[in-house]
Amino acid sequence: MGRRVLITGGAGFIGSHTCLVLLEAGYDLLVLDNFSNSSPEALTRVAAISSVSLNSTRLQIEHGDIRNPHTLDQLFSDAAANDRPFDAVIHFAGLKAVGESFQKPLLYWDVNVSGSRTLLAAMEAHACCTLVFSSSATVYGFPKDVPIPESAPIQPINPYGFSKAAVEQMLADLNASAPNTWRIACLRYFNPVGAHPSGQIGEDPLGFPNNLFPFVSQVAVGRRDQLQVFGSDWPTHDGTGVRDYIHVMDLADGHKAALDSLLKEGPQHLICNLGSGAGKSVLDVVNAYAAASGQNIPYALVDRRPGDAAITIADPTRAANTLSWRTKRTLSDICRDGWTWQQANPMGYRESA
Ligand code: NAD
Ligand code: UFG
Repeated sequence: MGRRVLITGGAGFIGSHTCLVLLEAGYDLLVLDNFSNSSPEALTRVAAISSVSLNSTRLQIEHGDIRNPHTLDQLFSDAAANDRPFDAVIHFAGLKAVGESFQKPLLYWDVNVSGSRTLLAAMEAHACCTLVFSSSATVYGFPKDVPIPESAPIQPINPYGFSKAAVEQMLADLNASAPNTWRIACLRYFNPVGAHPSGQIGEDPLGFPNNLFPFVSQVAVGRRDQLQVFGSDWPTHDGTGVRDYIHVMDLADGHKAALDSLLKEGPQHLICNLGSGAGKSVLDVVNAYAAASGQNIPYALVDRRPGDAAITIADPTRAANTLSWRTKRTLSDICRDGWTWQQANPMGYRESA
């Protein structure tokens, strides 16, 4: 039997793509998700693409909340009782909307910080000490230097960022409390975008998209009239904001690389950027998406969005050196795969869910 991994938030955007990569690599998975920002349909499709049966030993689903200690205790106890303990946890579950985090800070501290604490307490109690955690480039705030190395100061600028930084600190404290016990990988993602090339799974934001890529996709497919480009006077090659966009399948491969490394190399506390090291502007994305889709993407140049940085780009050296991982897919691949998903599912999972 394969290694067994508990995946919190595995029905979400990044989780569903990672489940696919891990199933194909032979891992057995149990997904814990409360579906507050996702659809079970994503996992039905993951099962179909990877030719496994839902709720077989390969892929089990538990509808539940990471903040509930009884749910977690039961999952770990059942796993042990059935002689299938979890070898590791990948912790995706959390809330991620920067704007919402200003309006509902307590909710963000509850889900992202208390939820992570509850999960870690269950892991400690059941002696499961291998964890891959979803952190974010947002912990760097306004970076002084780009590309950004992991040694850059942690200086969040919004409640969401503070919640991720708090969990990173909790993991550092936990690791220090029991050296040579924990195997922790804290992955700081840059801008995850795109979709599985099948077009069967992808990003499905509820309501008005906050992020560039889903907005551009919805303009291309005719759900929105035009994109607003936030700022055309940034100190960048064309005046629009520059980001390090990473194909979600590259990100999924990065999780597999981190998990493999933790299981093989033993106790450690790794903090690692996952990004490409290349920056693309808003207009670069618009042009690449228009080329990939053959659609016109109307846009208007408007004022800067408060809280945005001009440029964020990862220094991906550590991931290359420690995980032998680097991005393989281009912006054009990202746009092609994102468009395949958007065209096949113009309303996301809702039409078929
Ligand atoms: P997502 O919202 O698509 O996935 C998160 C999943 O967690 C969803 O399926 C949601 O239903 C589930 N969830 C939320 N609260 C839960 C709870 N209390 N109990 C159980 N399940 C719960 O988001 P994503 O883009 O896949 O992001 C995954 C992780 O990566 C998050 O922690 C996010 O903060 C982090 N991250 C995302 C990005 C990004 O741009 N997408 C960037 C950096 C970091
Ligand atoms: N942008 C627009 N119009 C839009 C949306 C975005 O011009 O409608 C611009 C932004 O100003 C920025 C770029 O597109 O220059 C990217 O913006 P996103 O909102 O897509 O991404 P951010 O880099 O602002 O932030 C995202 C997540 C954060 C996370 C960060 C790094 O929202 O939570 O990526 O992972 F921390």
